[in-house]
Amino acid sequence: MSISRTALLGCISLALSLTGAAAAQTPSASPAQRPPAPQQAAPLPWMNTSLDPDTRADLVIHEMTLDEKIQLVHGAGWGVLRAGAPVATGHNGGAGFVPGIPRLHLPDINLADSAYGVRMAAPQSRYATALPSVLGMSASWDPDAAFLFGAVIGRELRAQGYNMSIGGGMDLIREPRNGRNFEYSSEDPILAGTMVGKIAIGVQSNHIMGDIKHYVLNDQETGRNTLDALLDPRSMRETDLLAFQIAITMAHPAGVMCSYNHVNGDYACENDYTLNQVLKRDWGFKGFVLSDWGGTHSTVKAALAGLDMDQPGDDNFFSEPLKQAVLSGAVPQARLDDMVHRIVRSLFASGVIDQPPVRTVVDPFQGRDDAQKIEEESAVLLKNTAGTLPLSASKIRSIAIIGGHADVGVLSGGGSAQVDAPNGNAVEPRPGSSPWGKAIYFPSSPLRYIREQAAPGTKITYDEGTDPAQAAKAAAAAQIAIVFVTQWMTEGQDSATLSLPNQQDALVAAVAAANPSTIVVLENGGPVNMPWSAKTKAILESWYPGIGGGQAIADILFGRVNPSGKLPVTFAASEADLPHPQVTGLTERTGNNADTVTRNQPRQRPQPFTVDYNVEGMAVGYRWFQLKNKQPLFPFGFGLSYTHFAYSNLKVNSEVKSVTFTLRNTGLRKGDEIAQVYVTLPTSAGEPFRKLAAFKRVTLAPGAIQAVEIPLDPLYLSTYSPDANTWSRPFGDFLIEVGGSSASLPLHQILFLAAH
Ligand code: BGC
Repeated sequence: MSISRTALLGCISLALSLTGAAAAQTPSASPAQRPPAPQQAAPLPWMNTSLDPDTRADLVIHEMTLDEKIQLVHGAGWGVLRAGAPVATGHNGGAGFVPGIPRLHLPDINLADSAYGVRMAAPQSRYATALPSVLGMSASWDPDAAFLFGAVIGRELRAQGYNMSIGGGMDLIREPRNGRNFEYSSEDPILAGTMVGKIAIGVQSNHIMGDIKHYVLNDQETGRNTLDALLDPRSMRETDLLAFQIAITMAHPAGVMCSYNHVNGDYACENDYTLNQVLKRDWGFKGFVLSDWGGTHSTVKAALAGLDMDQPGDDNFFSEPLKQAVLSGAVPQARLDDMVHRIVRSLFASGVIDQPPVRTVVDPFQGRDDAQKIEEESAVLLKNTAGTLPLSASKIRSIAIIGGHADVGVLSGGGSAQVDAPNGNAVEPRPGSSPWGKAIYFPSSPLRYIREQAAPGTKITYDEGTDPAQAAKAAAAAQIAIVFVTQWMTEGQDSATLSLPNQQDALVAAVAAANPSTIVVLENGGPVNMPWSAKTKAILESWYPGIGGGQAIADILFGRVNPSGKLPVTFAASEADLPHPQVTGLTERTGNNADTVTRNQPRQRPQPFTVDYNVEGMAVGYRWFQLKNKQPLFPFGFGLSYTHFAYSNLKVNSEVKSVTFTLRNTGLRKGDEIAQVYVTLPTSAGEPFRKLAAFKRVTLAPGAIQAVEIPLDPLYLSTYSPDANTWSRPFGDFLIEVGGSSASLPLHQILFLAAH
């Protein structure tokens, strides 16, 4: 990717503010490789790299004492996460730590939250790249972008001395107001599974243990520790579990983190069905299940249900109580050995033991380039009346930029995903870690990059947008108004509504009334409604765009980059159209989306309650809208380009192994199209809606025509039978549709498939 000189200078100033950080990052032995191999007379047999990870693990376990085994299956406590908690020697400053066993050459396990970049870098004087949100990246529908996303995280974890990522969020977006949707990928299991699986592969390509979380049905934050998520087994296997199945069988992550909530009656971390039966037996998962932090609630039940590691480990379930349970026979020795085997084989399989991380200085320039490249593929152009965009610098004399702190930076998502911004929050710079509960902006100013791309002499003003009347005045005085609107979302709380917070709807309405050429740029955690959309000329969805966000936004507005992202989630027109018009269990005190939350503010701990996902069952996201015949504001899979694409000539292979069609760029610019294939199963399947079955991102020069072939996975044409515990392809008429969005599918073919 090319990067302008000025952009580079921006990076350099960014890096200069990190000089201290760089100095503190001189290469040294990482805590993750702390235990050196003891001087042995003979080499340790499990260090023979020609043996497979399972054999190597068995060889080590054979030498381990009971206490050493117990030591490996729980963390060393809250550590840096909780003020005053002891921090173990060898702890690298991340969310989790499991001490190694030096005499056996087993390293410490140092785990770091890393949803869109490595968390908690600043307190260690380190630097971490803030990538776009996971939801944003998923809008690229580009598995290569997902791999790059994971590879950046893996690279920086490694450079910072960690050996395990605890990112990989992929709960399905059933609740569009969920505070953590920015950490998740999609409402569609195939898109989510593919993208999050690729992230894990990217992470693990750096010899870092990967993780996928929060397993499962942790689809809202309200009451996450108490709620019981209800969903019938067939729907679960075909939606939320299918997403995990795709990612886990594709990436073979070291870890799967079980979630806080109950699933059909049992806590997710002591759920025999989801852990033992589905994850380990049916999918053959060989890694280990670790609890979300504080998500373990028992010793024997959890151990027997399939939990392998208790985190952060000071709830005293998998320490002495587990030892006693093993000694008494309540937990068989073989189960403990299985837990340990899963952990140790993952250390070998990932390369953590053979190629341990070595601390180096993170390269902020490379990180920024990568983040920007991903954002350029991920921003979604939602509206563009009369070719308002791209802006033509030579024709514009004045621009009013309004709101969203666009003068200093771009917004990011909060909670345990939060990456520290270089030099602190761009809104009030101060070095150090990002406080929990505050909207953090990264220093990538859209205003600055818009200034760079506008013609010399263009009058560009900035108004902070807090007073709609004043903003309208600024807008009226300019040829074009660009309003930046933000929706800050964070772990621990959901938004009560789909509306933008802080009266920003009124702001946009006032600006659009004052200036007919109003463009809106969104920086948000998930779907929002836009009562003003008809009054504006163009709308660009930039998600949380990461450290390269300001420049990526300007590049798209001025046409250096042709937008190509497509929505990975439906944008409803109103809450009334959702399967759950209100967030279940949310009261005034359990959620809001104001710009700050105090972590310890007294919040009502909700009484146990159920969230009944059987309301929509398999009809999650766009399927619900189809089933209920509701028009969304913007449909799943939708996104505009500065060029146009035409689809023709669909051919479906008679065994439905693949579809082929012709795609043509009918416009004047090079562009990427995300072609989508949807399948409606025969009526007998009882699924009266189309489902995404495959997709492909295709780059075409202006006028170019390409024959596109997309393979179809038979699993996605099948249904799951809980009674038989099998997937099978129904028989009858299959409707195959192809096009550029779930709501625009110009090609279709019906294919009869007989029983087999
Ligand atoms: C979050 C996890 C996170 C863990 C450690 C929990 O509150 O739900 O996603 O990995 O904390 O920070």
